[in-house]
Amino acid sequence: MIMRHWMDSPIFTYGRLREWRIFTRRKGDQPNAETGEVCNEINTYGRAVVIPGVTTEPATYGDEMYCAGVASGQGILQLGSKKVPLRAGSTFSMPPGLRHRFQNTGDSELEFIFCRRPPAPYDEKSFACHHWSEDRPKDTWGSPMQGHWNHVPRGPGAGLLIADIPPSKFSHPHNHPPTVDEIWYVNKGLGWHWMRQEYHVQSPGYALWLEPSELHSLMNPNNENLEFIWCASASDWTRQEAARKPEKFPTTPAGLAAALEQKFGALAAAYRHTGLSIFGVDQNLAEVEKIIKALKK
Ligand SMILES: [Fe+2]
Repeated sequence: MIMRHWMDSPIFTYGRLREWRIFTRRKGDQPNAETGEVCNEINTYGRAVVIPGVTTEPATYGDEMYCAGVASGQGILQLGSKKVPLRAGSTFSMPPGLRHRFQNTGDSELEFIFCRRPPAPYDEKSFACHHWSEDRPKDTWGSPMQGHWNHVPRGPGAGLLIADIPPSKFSHPHNHPPTVDEIWYVNKGLGWHWMRQEYHVQSPGYALWLEPSELHSLMNPNNENLEFIWCASASDWTRQEAARKPEKFPTTPAGLAAALEQKFGALAAAYRHTGLSIFGVDQNLAEVEKIIKALKK
């Protein structure tokens, strides 16, 4: 886990566009927390700002995919003669080579969190722009597609998501296959990022990059909504598949119970540490612990 505030990151200017590079692609095998060179797949991740009254110069991003989420402000994304309105909560993705300009039409900063990376097979092929308040895409059965995050309200993404965690809730704990980059950015509210037995307070402006193997969950222990911008990249499927090692499961019931206890124990400890009491969870925790105990006999 490496956490960095945008203010601690180097600033670059592209004409009238300001960019703070929070994380960049690593050099060599290991992440470097000092320089922010941590990513496996993402070339550049950061915060960009256009000040009020300004339109940026026309630009393209070569062979990179550009995904971004508007953290605050309002403006227009100009794509030739097409004008796409942007406001806080918008997410958009631009395929490589798309010529564009940003225009700030508000009276405060137009601020977005962006990611530049190689294109991936799952990317939308043409320009896409969504807002988190739009309806979520439906699966073949007509239910909103949300995967393991069905408890976290959110709309459609564009390679990057803006979502919120209601008070006293947390996102489903999980980890990832090797080489995946996942970065969480807290935009509003105060979160606790849980990783196995550790907590890291994550306040607005901090981006947190995760080792793919780290079991993690962002928790909201407060009374206000926690708004976050989530970004992940798994563009290099071949490399990922090569790095994937099948998980070895114990073969005896006692071994399985011990493995289950280890994983579940960390989750239960994390939940109890929050001091929250969620209807149903308390009883179920005790029930599962009883089952594990019985299995170990
Ligand atoms: Fe994740």
